[in-house]
Amino acid sequence: MPSEKESISFEKSNMTLDLSDTKIDNDSKSDSNGVKDFIVTPWEVAGDIDYSKLIEKFGTYTISDILLEKIKYFTGEIHPFLKNKYFFSHRDLDVVLDEYKRGNKFYLYTGRGPSGPVHLGHLMPWLFTKYLQEKFDVKLIFQLTDDEKFLFNSNLDMKTIQKYTYENIIDIISIGFDPKRTKIIVDTKHIKYLYPLSIEIAKKITYSTAKAVFGFSNSSNIGMIGFPPVQGAPCFLPSIIENKPTPVLIPAAIDQDPYWRVTRDIAEKLGYPKPAQIHSKFIPGLSSGGKMSSSKPETALFTVDDPEILETKIKNTFTGGQPTVALQRKLGGNANICPVYWYLNYLFDTEKESQERYSDCTSGNLLCGECKSDMIKNVKPFIKDIQTKRDKAQNLIKDFMIDGKEFFEDGSVGFK
Ligand code: TYM
Repeated sequence: MPSEKESISFEKSNMTLDLSDTKIDNDSKSDSNGVKDFIVTPWEVAGDIDYSKLIEKFGTYTISDILLEKIKYFTGEIHPFLKNKYFFSHRDLDVVLDEYKRGNKFYLYTGRGPSGPVHLGHLMPWLFTKYLQEKFDVKLIFQLTDDEKFLFNSNLDMKTIQKYTYENIIDIISIGFDPKRTKIIVDTKHIKYLYPLSIEIAKKITYSTAKAVFGFSNSSNIGMIGFPPVQGAPCFLPSIIENKPTPVLIPAAIDQDPYWRVTRDIAEKLGYPKPAQIHSKFIPGLSSGGKMSSSKPETALFTVDDPEILETKIKNTFTGGQPTVALQRKLGGNANICPVYWYLNYLFDTEKESQERYSDCTSGNLLCGECKSDMIKNVKPFIKDIQTKRDKAQNLIKDFMIDGKEFFEDGSVGFK
């Protein structure tokens, strides 16, 4: 990636924003059958998520079999996350692939809001991003929105966020991205790379749109209202770096979609390609319902958890099993609501193993303790591997930072 560009100029335009598909329904209601609705925003995910309904609500597209074949043309296989529909929705993925075929390589762009330690849910889009980077031989921009976490969390101070930013960078490096083709941007440290683009974006988005899309209200602080263009800016940075319109593909869970919707709406008006997305589902927490979240540490598996802690958390996990062994043998379990089945299915079992596990569970042949023990056997080495890589990652930080400088735990940059 070329080094920093000091002078960036943008075309002026007076376009207004088309609000047609930028509304999010933030209200949790029940439908006519009494089924509880769900909420998905960048800051809140709640309720029983119906992903087909979400596709309709957000106006995205299902990843069809035809599109899977198109991906396979380049990758030679269908990644398990695509096969098992963990990544289930997209916008313009087909367009990005067509451009790629014509020789116009895309950039990958993903990120993290450093509000706590990294859990398994965060790792999922990053593992997939790494896979895409390798298969397509493309560059990646990785943004850490420390500003977002400061502005949106009343109980987080900057000192704590800086500590998490450092720790999260170590995790990101541990994933194994290629340092020559990956650049990390920490908003409060590297804003000069984003600010010229952010103000171009900000000027095209009215408060009324921001309110409709993000649910801002009179009590929202003004930093929150001004933040979305900062997360939008890396969508256009590759075009600046490459000095030509450069497509961008964003792998992330679907909670981040509102940012892309507003950015897509104004992209072409600013002379950039609309950023494309590939959206994943959420991995559940270790309790009944809800996504894995740092704000509920007892229900999340963190990369920094000791093996004993992982084991205890998994042993205490909610399952879809019956209250007693006798009932489980008689009635079978409910794999559909079981987080343990979920993790094994999406992360560790082969397709065949998962099918067998499902039928053994639902027919009562398998007890929850057996599945939990399988999960412990898989999760412990998986996390241990990341922890080993974390130790080495500390020496690689400056190879990944966009300014090529060190980054320290106290948030300082450069040389100490
Ligand atoms: P953050 O830190 O909330 O989440 C980081 C990434 O993890 C995904 N994610 C999950 N995926 C599956 N299951 C879960 N339980 C789960 N929880 C979180 C998120 O969708 C995200 O992909 N504002 C962003 C940071 C950001 C960003 C980006 C993310 C800046 N630029 C570009 C993605 C792409 C944030 O706070 O993410």
